[in-house]
Amino acid sequence: MAVLGIESSAHTLGLGIVKNGSIIANEKLMFPIGNQGIIPARAADFHAGNSSKIIRSIFSSSELSPNDIEAVGYTKGPGLGPCLRIGQLMARTFAEKHKIPIFPVNHAVAHIEVTRQLSKVKDPLVLYVSGGNSQILALDDTPFRHYHIYGETFDIGVGNMLDSFAREAKLTPAWGSSVAKLAEGGKYIQMPYTVKGMDFTFTGLLTHASKALENNSHKDIAYSLQETAFAMLCEATERALLLTKKKDILLSGGVAQSRRLGQMIGIVAKSHRARIHTVANEYNADNGAMIALVAESMMKSGQHYRSRDCDINQKYRIDSVKVSW
Ligand code: FE2
Repeated sequence: MAVLGIESSAHTLGLGIVKNGSIIANEKLMFPIGNQGIIPARAADFHAGNSSKIIRSIFSSSELSPNDIEAVGYTKGPGLGPCLRIGQLMARTFAEKHKIPIFPVNHAVAHIEVTRQLSKVKDPLVLYVSGGNSQILALDDTPFRHYHIYGETFDIGVGNMLDSFAREAKLTPAWGSSVAKLAEGGKYIQMPYTVKGMDFTFTGLLTHASKALENNSHKDIAYSLQETAFAMLCEATERALLLTKKKDILLSGGVAQSRRLGQMIGIVAKSHRARIHTVANEYNADNGAMIALVAESMMKSGQHYRSRDCDINQKYRIDSVKVSW
């Protein structure tokens, strides 16, 4: 029997199917953001309008039928309310129709767990970098087993910062990957750099870089912005590595797709003889398979939820989640 996962926290509507920790199928459709960013109500309309299509598609690519599914998971949060609501409704409808258990999954836990489980790493230090968040974490058993946050952004996620800058620089699509492309061959210009212990902030850097676009080469600004933001993440990660004495670093989340960030964290890891682990871009980006994997872990460790209690939470904190597997 297999487990279905539904991800809908932002622009991606993703469905995945797993069986005993292996990914059987992973399908996604993306709301086209252009240079406007994600408009929550429109992204939710996109998800609702494509829900039947993606369900047909996942069962055709997996060669399974809905009767082969023994449980369903969905993203409870964090994320955009209207988008989360569509995934929750899809999951509740599927669970009630097929009389199977349902599991509300934390999006950040799913990003980390897909990387940890596919990399087969037991107890890593995690750098989780996405649009909505940026955190440094590790598993901790007190007062219950959870991902303890050692450091995090005090304002916006690094992905959100890069996407916002892309919009200011009129790049299309307004993604961090467009900033990375523009940054190639740029020269460094001094930028504000804010790390406090293992925490950091990005809005000052974004404001400074956006204003600097008026009188400087866009290429140099993109390069300097990216180097500064990633250096901040590396400094905080290095401090957490020394504190926790971990030997594995997990690089996880949408921004983990950045080749430059991977190189820079690789330098940190090498200088402390730590190993670095990440997964293919398909699984670092938002996807349904990561939700299915966590739902399966929740089910196998004995968790249980009533369908009517399965809500959404736009600000669902990772450190409130019990990692019972
Ligand atoms: Fe994500």
